[in-house]
Amino acid sequence: MNAVTLPQLPAAAYTPLGAEVFRGLTTRPRTLSPWLFYDQEGSQLFEQITELDEYYLTRTERDIFRANAGDIIAAASGPTPHGLERELTVIELGAGTATKTGLLLHAAVRRQQAVTYHAIDVSESALQEAQRNLTAAIPGVTFQSRVGDYTEGLGEIPADGTRRLVLYIGSSLGNFEPGDARQLLCDVRKQLAPGDMLLLGVDLVKDIPTLVAAYDDASGVTAAFNRNVLARINRELSADFDLMKFRHKVRWNGEHSRIEMHLESLMAHDVSIDALDLSLTFRRGETIHTENSYKYTIQGTQHLLAQTGFTVVENWTDAHRWFGVFLARVH
Ligand code: TRP
Repeated sequence: MNAVTLPQLPAAAYTPLGAEVFRGLTTRPRTLSPWLFYDQEGSQLFEQITELDEYYLTRTERDIFRANAGDIIAAASGPTPHGLERELTVIELGAGTATKTGLLLHAAVRRQQAVTYHAIDVSESALQEAQRNLTAAIPGVTFQSRVGDYTEGLGEIPADGTRRLVLYIGSSLGNFEPGDARQLLCDVRKQLAPGDMLLLGVDLVKDIPTLVAAYDDASGVTAAFNRNVLARINRELSADFDLMKFRHKVRWNGEHSRIEMHLESLMAHDVSIDALDLSLTFRRGETIHTENSYKYTIQGTQHLLAQTGFTVVENWTDAHRWFGVFLARVH
């Protein structure tokens, strides 16, 4: 019998970052997973994106919360087929600095005096800022956090007689492939009990120039955010990506209803990633597909929630119907 020898990979290839970079950059087309964007630098750039004129998503969702936070919290705490009105414990997936969440927590404190808030995010620095902002602004909030990838689960969240309200806002669901999005909602559903609630915020299909501009702003912040993923690989895996050899490329893919972000190599060149013992050759025009942002319809979102074990209780949108917020109950 022949002995099989597996190729030896360096230790860095077995860390979450190393494994994802190895997988993503050695398969074709080359891709990188969205969570890689959010190191400290990336989280700061993302905060800047949310303040851009072109990036209508954050302010539109915030306006929906501002107009409806009381109703959202009332509907989430109200009686259900599974029981009477209950106090809420709020859990947020991918909380970031939680700038919009304050509106909802404020409404929860108005209704129930105090609320426990569990923030989950891959960026520790973002969570620290969330804690600083929220606890100073809203007495009555007990802040708890966990640094980690929420696709690996909600972690230990004791409900202590309260009803759980999971926030999954900011159109983060749109960064997953439809099958993965469905799986993610099923996984969240499995960790909840009948009667628990999900508040989902998704960006809606709209005219193409508005969509494209949101991901290709005139001041180049989104381009810097996109390229930062290469800078992060340079920093953490001793790579030598030359950021200026890649162009930020955005396109609307109507067939799949998504905005695509790519990094396009402007010339033929080689890159080495020392910590992974990896050498890559890029052709001119070759792209790394760094992100998709799927755009949903109201009907499509309702269908997706129904398919994954939720009943939509209510949904809210803005005057332009640019963004949708859905409250759904576990059934
Ligand atoms: N999920 C949001 C969106 O798709 C935020 C976001 C994720 C984003 N990655 C991004 C925004 C990259 C701009 C660029 O819009």
